[in-house]
Amino acid sequence: MSKLFINIKELVQVREHTNTPLRGKEMDELPSIKNAFLWLEDGLIKDYGRMDNYHPHPAQEVYDCSDQIITPGYIDSHTHLVFAATREKEFEDRIQGLSYEEIASRGGGILNSAAALEKMTEEELFEQARSRLDQVVAQGTVAIEIKSGYGLSVASELKILRVVSRLRESGTTSHHKIPIKSTFLGAHAFPLKYKKDRKAYINLIIDEMLPKIAEEHLADYIDVFCEQNYFTVKEMLRILEAGSAYGLKAKVHVNQFNALGAIEAAVQAGAVSVDHLEVMQASDFTALAGSRTIATALPSCSFFLGLEYAPVNEMIEQDIAVSLASDYNPGSTPSGNLNFVYSLACIKMNMSPQRAFNALTINAAHALELQEELGSITIGKKANLMIFKNIESMASIPYNFGQVVIDQVVVNGQFI
Ligand code: NIG
Ligand code: FE
Repeated sequence: MSKLFINIKELVQVREHTNTPLRGKEMDELPSIKNAFLWLEDGLIKDYGRMDNYHPHPAQEVYDCSDQIITPGYIDSHTHLVFAATREKEFEDRIQGLSYEEIASRGGGILNSAAALEKMTEEELFEQARSRLDQVVAQGTVAIEIKSGYGLSVASELKILRVVSRLRESGTTSHHKIPIKSTFLGAHAFPLKYKKDRKAYINLIIDEMLPKIAEEHLADYIDVFCEQNYFTVKEMLRILEAGSAYGLKAKVHVNQFNALGAIEAAVQAGAVSVDHLEVMQASDFTALAGSRTIATALPSCSFFLGLEYAPVNEMIEQDIAVSLASDYNPGSTPSGNLNFVYSLACIKMNMSPQRAFNALTINAAHALELQEELGSITIGKKANLMIFKNIESMASIPYNFGQVVIDQVVVNGQFI
């Protein structure tokens, strides 16, 4: 199957080389070609360039795009998409004045989600998760990471990760398959019965969950929620080390409410990314600057919980590689819409539209180690794209917050 787009108003995020994440001033550049063509074949980008230099390519379908901007799709490097139930009651409690931490300490929060998930069959979970996947793909997400962490028992953690694996195999309801990376987050919270014996739960993660997960090849990464009342830095390191023995690299939840020194520890442990980063101290910047670890901010979570926003511009100024993701989950971020993340990044974090788009595409691809196949318009990469309605410029996407400006999403060279 081949498609040819001609007279494209602007083809954005065109790059020949993408082997390192963007840092510093590189984040300010969003390379594009005005009046461009783009040729897709067998699900891949085969050629692109200026219309002036265009030599006819054989294509089954040809589209005139003189009113349209075409870009690579968004990459969501942090989600908890497989969950059993929404948590509107806690949302109302927060409106009445309870904090996220207070709700959690009363047995709400993650433990509430785990209780609901335990009762749900794998089939039901799969169907629900697939409908969420359909929805985010329609909103422009063309690759995604999905975490476990609402299981907190051997059986339930495996149930979630098997659902993730089925989503990868089967794709959306209409069988559009996007790359999915899977992350084991058994260390998301301590189940009530282990509150007084934390070691026993950590042993369960290390001695029972991890070997089974590794045996079934159910995870690419390992994650820990390192936070007061959750996992300490020391506990995080022990779990990451155990994961590493099975070849699982780290992507961790750190600095959401408190700066505990987890960033430095995670960077030293070779983490692919550190995520959240709402609360940052000077030593956290130092640890990240010059490291290979990607700093992933989750502005929808700050928006929904009323938290500080991660200081992304300061990080970029210090040459830290920054990406953006949704954190889609029922407790802190009941939305996987990266168009809204784009708006928040610009409106609330003061990122320029160029910086934010780089953070949502090529740097997000690095946060999932998918930079060789996604994140830019590059010959040989997957044809996973967004085609926008007749908008003024890239700034129109975040500017039109809450509105649908995507006309078509393309996955593996097919309209979804
Ligand atoms: O990334 N912070 C930890 N985990 C999730 C939220 C978990 C929940 O409330 O269900 C997050 O925000
Ligand atoms: Fe999260």
